[in-house]
Parts: sequence; C-alpha cells; structure tokens
Amino acid sequence: METQSSFPYHFIDQVIITEADIKARVKALGETITHDYKDSEKLLLLGLLRGSIVFITDLMREIRRDITMDFMSISSYNKSESSGFVRIDSDHKTNIRGWDVILIDDIVDTGYTIRTVHKLLLDREPRSLKVCALLDKPERHKVDIKIDYLGFSIPDYFVVGYGLDYDEKGRNLPYIASVDLNKGKA
Ligand code: IMP
Ligand code: MG
Repeated sequence: METQSSFPYHFIDQVIITEADIKARVKALGETITHDYKDSEKLLLLGLLRGSIVFITDLMREIRRDITMDFMSISSYNKSESSGFVRIDSDHKTNIRGWDVILIDDIVDTGYTIRTVHKLLLDREPRSLKVCALLDKPERHKVDIKIDYLGFSIPDYFVVGYGLDYDEKGRNLPYIASVDLNKGKA
C-alpha cells in the first residue's frame, strides 16, 4: 500500500479504510447488485458528481450485467460545512421513466443531498429507485433516509480520498483517510 507520505496532503490524519478493504467491499456490493437486478431490463447507475466518480467506475466493473450510467452535479457543500440547501448544477441526460435507477453518492452526511435528489427523481417516474453510498456517517444524519447499498459506516470524521475531497484536494488518494482540520490545507 502507498504510504501517506507519498501524497502531498499535510492535512491527512490517518488511513481509516485501506485500498484492499475498499476493493473487497465494492466487489461484494457489485455482486449483490448483479443478483438483485437480474430481472431488470434497464438499469441506470446515476452518480452524483464529483465525489462518486471513483466509486462508480470501480463499482460498475463489478456489476455483471448491462448497465447505463449517467450523472448529476449537485452543490450542497462548502469545505467541511453542510447546509440544507441543495442546488442542481447539471442534470442527468437519460429519461429515467421506466428505468431501474440506483442513485450513487460518495458519502451520506446530513442526508439532505440524497433526500432532495431522491424526491426529485421519484417525480420523474423511474420503475424503481434505490440509494447506494460508499460511506455513511449515521451520527450526522439530520433527516431520515434509507441507504439500500452501503459500503461502510464511519464515525463522525471528515474524510478524504477515493473521490472525496477536502476543499478540492485529496480525491486521488486510493484509500479513505481522516482529515485533521487543525492542520489546514495542503
Ligand atoms: P449531505 O447532504 O450533508 O448528506 O452531504 C453529502 C455531501 O457532502 C457528500 O456528497 C459529500 O460531497 C460531502 N461530504 C460530506 N461529508 C464529507 C466528508 O467527510 N468528506 C468529504 N465530503 C463530504
Ligand atoms: Mg457530494
């Protein structure tokens, strides 16, 4: 495994989920999804940009059936502060009416993002709609949401890596690391 010091991010505290653990979990999620959707005619993986890109590109390669993928870009977040305000910056292109849709995000924090997007997508009449997230911070939830496919539940840490950023940095780390918010930016 890469050592922390080979990446120039001084704000990293410690690795909390290793590359090998992520790989194993993503493989298992892919197997479950493959099984659950074996009778589905049209499966769409709908990722939220930009945090979910690493997760979705690995996950799709563990799903052994035909899939389509699409993205939405959502702003809900400023540095490490979350707000109830969620804005759609760019919408998906696929007409999801009649599709089995899996909404994919990197992490569920307060739950506002997933709740808002989930509601919006339901209005567009997919055949089914499920939620998949790599990470969840249950202690931070402010609204009730159901995560159908979850990678890992984590304590209330601010984390980076595997697509997740701290002020746009750290997305390229191959593992999930906690951030020491006192150490400042890279
Ligand atoms: P929510 O709307 O509060 O659930 O926030 C979800 C979004 O906030 C995620 O899609 C992430 O983009 C971002 N976020 C929440 N927690 C973290 C974190 O620990 N590291 C990086 N981004 C985070
Ligand atoms: Mg996000």
